Amino acid sequence: MKALLLAATAVLAFCGSVYADTVKVGVVGPFSGPFAIQGKNFKAGIDAYMALNGSKVGDDDIEIIYRDVPTPDPAQAKALAQELVVKEGVQYLTGFYFTPDAMAVTPLLEQANVPLVIMNAATSAIVTKSPLVVRTSFTLWQTSAPMAKVAAERGIKKVITVVSDYGPGVDSETAFKKTFEAAGGTVVDSIRMPLSTNDFSPIMQRVKDSGAAAVFAFLPSGPTTLGFVKAYNENGLKEAGIQFLAPGDLTQESDLPALGDAAIGLTTTFHYAVSHASPENKTFVEAARKAIGNPVELSFPAVGAYDGMHVIYKMIEATGGKQDAQKAVDAVKGLAWESPRGPVSIDAESRHITQNIYLREVAKAEDGTYYNKEIATFEKQTDPGLAQK
Ligand code: PHB
Repeated sequence: MKALLLAATAVLAFCGSVYADTVKVGVVGPFSGPFAIQGKNFKAGIDAYMALNGSKVGDDDIEIIYRDVPTPDPAQAKALAQELVVKEGVQYLTGFYFTPDAMAVTPLLEQANVPLVIMNAATSAIVTKSPLVVRTSFTLWQTSAPMAKVAAERGIKKVITVVSDYGPGVDSETAFKKTFEAAGGTVVDSIRMPLSTNDFSPIMQRVKDSGAAAVFAFLPSGPTTLGFVKAYNENGLKEAGIQFLAPGDLTQESDLPALGDAAIGLTTTFHYAVSHASPENKTFVEAARKAIGNPVELSFPAVGAYDGMHVIYKMIEATGGKQDAQKAVDAVKGLAWESPRGPVSIDAESRHITQNIYLREVAKAEDGTYYNKEIATFEKQTDPGLAQK
């Protein structure tokens, strides 16, 4: 009996040490369905980071566990996050392409003692929902306000805005309108479309009829951004002299081959272009392209994921692999590093990433490929959206 007990204790001790030596990270994102390419970019960014930095932090092995939420579905995102925490024992939650999915998970974090590192979801308010949220992507305020400044500087007087009717769309519309009107411009009309909209011809007609000199638009990157830009090209807006302005979600690199020459000259503002010229980006693009397989599929969610992993590695280092969500989050407040997108830091107060925003134009390279060409930089942008709340 005594021998049996001793053996059982030894097994338990062994299991305990194995458990303590593996830190599990749960990633929620769209890995199938219409947005699968965005989830593929999350995975490519994570794989690239681990290929370049190893799959251990100190003595701890890092294990990544993926869960698929194909389209915005807060109930499913919450159920999968709960399952990751309770059944899988993840110490970190990350990924989250869509705002509603991230919002649904923030109420779980404190009780679960788990930080949430957001790799994409871009509505400003998410970081205010829990002190355990850190974000390495961008916000629509961050990317849209500079575009309003560019529009005003270029002498554009009247703009019509068109956005998807949910968190990031409303942020994008508000950011553009407030900034553009402060610079003397007028927003003549603001259209909000349901997320499911995929016939854009009636909207293009309203844009033409509005008398605006430019259309400013936001939709979440995916099949509908491609459809929207195609509709702009095919409904004679360019011929009518109506300029196209948008955050870079609308010209993500993976959409450019399908848009072809019609995309050349499209003007956007964004935190990341695959073409960004820096040694850090060269290393990243090489590793991420290897991970994703098809090089033209690489776009911005991969850099959010790569930097998200950097933050998670720093958190694991600071906690020695022990589960302490507040200590982990505190450890990355003010953290600064050179990202593939340029210099970045985690704002100690908001826990959102401070970064450069670039003005870009779609261009065609000598080899016939299309890319976002960076032509100006708005340096060290915090999130102006948070100051509004
Ligand atoms: C979001 O739902 O927060 C979101 C998704 C895709 C984007 C931007 C924002 O391109």
